[in-house]
Amino acid sequence: MNLQGSNFVKIVEVGPRDGLQNEKTPLTLEDRKNLILDLMQTGLKNIEVGSCVSAKWVPQMSDSDRLYAELPKDPNIQFSLLTPNIKGFESALAVGCTEVAVFTAASESFTQKNINCSIDESFDKFADIMASAKANNIKVRGYVSCIVDCPYEGAIDPHKVAEVTQRLLDMGCYEVSLGETIGTATPDRVAKVWDACLSSMDAHYLAGHFHNTYGMAIANIYQSLQQGIRIFDSSIAGLGGCPYAKGASGNVSTEDLYYLLSKMGFTTGIDLDALMKASQNISQVLQRNNPSNYANAYWQTRCA
Ligand code: HMG
Ligand code: MG
Repeated sequence: MNLQGSNFVKIVEVGPRDGLQNEKTPLTLEDRKNLILDLMQTGLKNIEVGSCVSAKWVPQMSDSDRLYAELPKDPNIQFSLLTPNIKGFESALAVGCTEVAVFTAASESFTQKNINCSIDESFDKFADIMASAKANNIKVRGYVSCIVDCPYEGAIDPHKVAEVTQRLLDMGCYEVSLGETIGTATPDRVAKVWDACLSSMDAHYLAGHFHNTYGMAIANIYQSLQQGIRIFDSSIAGLGGCPYAKGASGNVSTEDLYYLLSKMGFTTGIDLDALMKASQNISQVLQRNNPSNYANAYWQTRCA
């Protein structure tokens, strides 16, 4: 095995945001809060709480600023809010948020559908956010969607992904998460994206964000680990999807990611029992079977 770098893998839990933004029936604020309270017990150190976007576009994420304000704060847990523009950023700032995430894509069509502007225009909006973030000492994470395929344009050139990622780093993002938005990628294609990025960027600035539509997320993460990536986004109980990427399913489940990483000798800081409790509780709230293979095996062996 040719694994580079340190043994610790950072997991960014995106369930409360990416996971719940696509639910047909939006969860109540109380259920969203309970999910985050559960996640806070798991040892996860980075949790995306929600998004400050237009409620007309994504009603499921309404009142994310209020949700943030109501959560107890733990100095060991970094919460963040997704913000597409200065209006969203200011809502996050008003509730004392210390990290935001901006999001664009390597595809023009997806950017138009998702945030109603071109890639260049998205950067104009981020420039305002960056200026205010710097003045207020707020950390900014970046996202690039459609790193392999776009639901509207098809295959995306890895060099375009690298270019957009570099622009986000240059403008001040401390880390950029590369989103395999529709889950069609296979490891060979993911490898080409990392090759393009790693030729000019250090792995510690880069995160992998894999949706699991075709069951390839774990294989893609394994490939990413081989190339030195040590930061991954995941979603408890594999929740999620993107409202502007029809048919795309949830992120890799945090449970399956935990299993892969722990069996490969990586440390994550996760408390397994607490993770399984969080996973079971949200599955019950949603009245849905958990797609995580590991979670299902865990409960079967417990009940046997
Ligand atoms: P727009 O219609 O172009 O915005 O939408 P606008 O500036 O023209 O304003 C129109 C109205 O929206 C106005 O209200 C604004 O005040 C309001 P009105 O005067 O009509 O009452 N507005 C806002 N309200 C609340 N918060 C805001 C905000 N901004 C404007 N921040 C906009 C542009 C970006 C707002 C819209 O397109 C939007 O909200 N898009 C969000 C899309 C989204 O959340 N997508 C999912 C997240 S991305 C994702 O899932 C991918 C990722 O997981 C990685 C991967 O998997 O690839 C990250
Ligand atoms: Mg996503």
